[in-house]
Amino acid sequence: MSEIESLKGQLDSLQTAALVAFAQAEDLSALQQLRVHYLGKKGALTEVLKGVGKLPPAERPVIGQYVNQTKAALTQALELSEAELAVKGKALRIEAERLDITLSGRKQAVGALHPVQQGLDEITAIFAQMGFAVAEGPEIEDEFHNFDALNIPPEHPARAMHDTFFLKDLHSDSGEPMLLRTHTSPVQIRTMKRFLAEHGEPPLAVVAPGRVYRCDYDVTHSPMFHQVEVFKVDRDVSMAHLKGVLQHFLSTYFEKEVGIRLRPHYFPFTEPSAEVDISCVFCAAKGCRICKGSGWIEVLGSGMIHPNVLRSVGIDGDEFSGFAFGLGVERLVMLKKGIPDLRLFFENDVRFLRRMGVSK
Ligand code: PHE
Repeated sequence: MSEIESLKGQLDSLQTAALVAFAQAEDLSALQQLRVHYLGKKGALTEVLKGVGKLPPAERPVIGQYVNQTKAALTQALELSEAELAVKGKALRIEAERLDITLSGRKQAVGALHPVQQGLDEITAIFAQMGFAVAEGPEIEDEFHNFDALNIPPEHPARAMHDTFFLKDLHSDSGEPMLLRTHTSPVQIRTMKRFLAEHGEPPLAVVAPGRVYRCDYDVTHSPMFHQVEVFKVDRDVSMAHLKGVLQHFLSTYFEKEVGIRLRPHYFPFTEPSAEVDISCVFCAAKGCRICKGSGWIEVLGSGMIHPNVLRSVGIDGDEFSGFAFGLGVERLVMLKKGIPDLRLFFENDVRFLRRMGVSK
């Protein structure tokens, strides 16, 4: 076989091999490697071209043309394969990124307010709706606001009954020990003082929710619990107003007409004072374990604000009068939701919280 025929033969088999390889390339990077292998500077085609030098000069243009045809054929095949692979790659990507929109979604766990917070908000809202303004006071108090101004002088036995947490290292400006407030009643004092400074004289009607502290712990007592204080001062406020507000509040909160009963009691800061019972919400006042057979459940303390308390903030008790009451939030939530043990509120067992968490 002549030299030129042999070269043409080499070029033909190179082209056949290359076309097969291009067609089988899996992806664009494999194709790029093949391009280098066949058409690169040190590639197979260049290798064959080395043989051209051995040909007599007259034959060189012939083989040159043949080489160009081979090169053109390979380049064209490469581009074709490239285009095919690009399309295939896109299709693969689309397939891989496919979303199955028929799968059901993952549920987001939604938290809820703690049942005590729900109760606090609910109770406060009922009074706010009746026109009482919301106020708050500090949880760290001095003896003046927690006791003295509320007509509980230092030797008063009521002080001992409050199981107060004193803060050893904290003292007021006048050197008195500070304490964790044992009730929300000091907010009466602070709010009345602030109100008078701004407006000169009553009327004012206030609802004051917040945390209170007593050194006490059992099934019905927790060292921290929540109270809502409600009070109103104006001319001619009477016990009838107190009873009307209580009746409306308790029936709204328990979502049914509850009977209420005021029992004479004693609080240093109210005169007269009354404990308030509601007809038992569990047995329709027939008598059960919860109401201890009486048909009544005690829910809060109340009374007409003592003239000494009004005097301590500079209100004339001959001209103005007021009612006040303070209720325990945990207790009311327990009664409404049938929760048997106060401690459930503070253990934060999620099974309990989930059951209580769903508000309307
Ligand atoms: N402060 C009282 C308590 O914590 C409740 C109360 C408030 C009673 C207002 C009468 C008037 O026990």
